[in-house]
Amino acid sequence: MRRLTTFALVLISTILFPLSVAAQKIELSIDASKPGAKIDRNIFGQFAEHLGHGIYDGIWVGPDSSIPNTRGIRNDVVVALKALKVPNVRWPGGCFADEYHWRNGIGPAEKRAVTLNPNWGGVIEPNTFGTHEFMDFIDQIGAEAYVSVNVGSGSTREAAEWLEYMTAAQPTTLEKERAGNGHPAPYKIGYLGIGNESWDCGGNMTPDYYLDELKIYSRFVRNFNPDQQNKHQMLKIAVGPGGEGARWMEWTETIMKAYQHHSWSWDINGLSMHSYTVVKWPPSYASMGFGETEYAQILKSTLAMDDLIKEHSAIMDKYDPEKKVALVVDEWGGWYAPLPGTNPGFLEQQNSMRDAILAALNLNIFAHHADRVRGANIAQMINVLQAMILTDKEKVVLTPTYYVFKMYVPFQDATFVPVAFDAGKCTHDDITLPRVDAVAARDAAGKLWLEITNLDPNQSAEIEASLTGINAKSASGETLTAPRVDSVNNFDAPNTVVPKPISAKIRDGKVTLKLEPKSVTVISVSP
Ligand code: AHR
Repeated sequence: MRRLTTFALVLISTILFPLSVAAQKIELSIDASKPGAKIDRNIFGQFAEHLGHGIYDGIWVGPDSSIPNTRGIRNDVVVALKALKVPNVRWPGGCFADEYHWRNGIGPAEKRAVTLNPNWGGVIEPNTFGTHEFMDFIDQIGAEAYVSVNVGSGSTREAAEWLEYMTAAQPTTLEKERAGNGHPAPYKIGYLGIGNESWDCGGNMTPDYYLDELKIYSRFVRNFNPDQQNKHQMLKIAVGPGGEGARWMEWTETIMKAYQHHSWSWDINGLSMHSYTVVKWPPSYASMGFGETEYAQILKSTLAMDDLIKEHSAIMDKYDPEKKVALVVDEWGGWYAPLPGTNPGFLEQQNSMRDAILAALNLNIFAHHADRVRGANIAQMINVLQAMILTDKEKVVLTPTYYVFKMYVPFQDATFVPVAFDAGKCTHDDITLPRVDAVAARDAAGKLWLEITNLDPNQSAEIEASLTGINAKSASGETLTAPRVDSVNNFDAPNTVVPKPISAKIRDGKVTLKLEPKSVTVISVSP
């Protein structure tokens, strides 16, 4: 009876005092006369590892499949990804990259070595998706290649030969082999990852040990493509930190200190950083069927990305004040418990409205650090972790995260525009979140784009944005919201979380609009 009374009291107080404070007006002040850095389109990069159903089934079904495909690559997935204007795809891993031997993945499919994938479920790796198939895939979706070479269990020679195989134009033996395998023209490699998590699955190296390897790989793993010698040079990305704390500061410090005095014989253009939203390892939060507490905990955790970037940027600024070396967050996203009944090594999870908000918050953080963060790759593209697309045999579903990336396309290579606002607060239990988040940018045509995220799961937000440096005549866009924080798109109900049109009003030169609770909204303001 006593317990019942307590329960009733809790229930009544929850009804009377809902999750958040009452709706309030949020004023934004956008100054288009003070443009910032270019928001590099590469912050919208993707990551496709040989892991679970990420490559096999997700991208590659083989030319003989009944699933419509072009040279083995699923047509439905290509159509969906083209709409995202994916700037680059990081491949073949991840941890897989440090066990990948490229020769297994070239030549006639029936003669390719069949190997194992010990990192991810210990399953058979048929190697039917190799260099040529990857290049065909990125060509079909219009992306650039970000290739990670094997530092952990490979050799400099193996990596150097792979690059020669892919990029040589002169008639070397490797160039002829590539031509014989169907591609006479040299491939373009936009980005070269020198190892992956070399502090852990990539070989558990100390920063100094890795630094020595980095110098050797940077020197000898060359790109011979004649079109990449002056313009469009391949950018070399070193392994960087994997989180917060002294160990990671030391890693960044070691690489950047060496970079400051680097000789002609080695160089880097980027430092990678990996940071997943997990709250704590091993990942135990459910990706579906969760409540507002888990929603708030995950979003609180993901906002730590901002401090992490600040900490590592500060070290980079010390040794590279001209910001020549980009910070490339080439693994990020929500990492939850594997879906029940799936192979835990396949990292399969659902993707909810919470993930849409998580994605928007991180993209906004990257944009706010556009002068240093010039690359990022969400993990991972299809069927793995925070995916854009889920597939099941011939079926395909686009996730809430997919739609966020689609809505953000206008921000690719646009110029950052400062937005000042008091974000307000929304509180759940002892967790306080900003009520809104926002980012603005101007595209090459002069159009202003504004993204506003309403984190509050229950309260709508009235937005009033004043503009300097641009006269607003009209404003409209799209908004993504859902009935619940854990709403998902699945094969039976693929359109639960899809963007809908939203119109804004222009009043006294100010843009006003109402945001639904838990929503991501992008509007364009036309002068
Ligand atoms: O994305 C899954 C794994 O997470 C990657 O293979 C590895 O780099 C990271 O630990």
